[in-house]
Amino acid sequence: MAKIIDGKQFAADLRGKMTTQIASLKEQHNIVPGLAVVLVGEDPASQVYVRNKGKQAKECGINSIEHKLDESTDEAFLLNLIDEMNQDPAINGILVQLPLPKHIDSDKVLNAIDPAKDVDGFHPINVGLLSTGGKGMIPCTPLGSLMMLQDYHGDLTGMNAVVVGRSNIVGKPMFNLLLQQSCTVTVAHSRTKNIEEVVREADIVVAAVGVPELVKGSWIKPGATVIDVGINRIETDEGKTKLVGDVEFESAVEVAGAITPVPGGVGPMTIACLLYNTMVAACRHNNVDMPEA
Ligand code: GUN
Repeated sequence: MAKIIDGKQFAADLRGKMTTQIASLKEQHNIVPGLAVVLVGEDPASQVYVRNKGKQAKECGINSIEHKLDESTDEAFLLNLIDEMNQDPAINGILVQLPLPKHIDSDKVLNAIDPAKDVDGFHPINVGLLSTGGKGMIPCTPLGSLMMLQDYHGDLTGMNAVVVGRSNIVGKPMFNLLLQQSCTVTVAHSRTKNIEEVVREADIVVAAVGVPELVKGSWIKPGATVIDVGINRIETDEGKTKLVGDVEFESAVEVAGAITPVPGGVGPMTIACLLYNTMVAACRHNNVDMPEA
């Protein structure tokens, strides 16, 4: 049986450390990191995310600013708001919750955010900095996944990693992060031939395809570490719904050496890393070193 990597606990520990670090920033430099979150419209899942972000930010000592805008908000208004926040020295992180309403060009909006305040790491400048090994902002979900891998394994040098999925938000940045850690990285996707055999070579599997329970236990090399980024709501035989990952947990847990569950694995790490990025941005904007935890 695999060890279960408890992302909920890991995220709570990380927030605990950040609370100490943010308290020292205030004490030593009078800095309070500020995170602005923009939500346009009434998407229920987005509302839950934004509420959790705000609550956890405050608990860590981050100043959380929320802009809840009407569904009918136009692009020019949003671009103007972003411009104001780019200029505001009290705001270190800007996050525009996706998806945006259809009449707004998401790329245009994301590209308007100052890359130094882009705590999502979605701006093309940050994408480029990650792939060239520069000092940018790293997308939250891949960063949280890497933190858990490093905590479990220590040094990842020379390990075979297979990332299943090639999205801009998870697959591609995860590839870059694992490569930076000197893993041998393969990106598998919907058109990969013999995907089961490719995955079976991996010491580390990161599944981020958005297909419920695609990766089976039989695909996994005995003892491998499995990071399941998927969050899919499916119907059970009893007509209820439940959350499952991109990995078939019941079979994978028998074969893997360690595995993240869904829920309670990668999910809680995403918000914790958003707060982490906000703290990093605040230190950089003020030219101070990050305090010890
Ligand atoms: N919508 C769902 N997850 C995310 C996220 O991590 N960042 C943003 N900006 N929007 C999201």
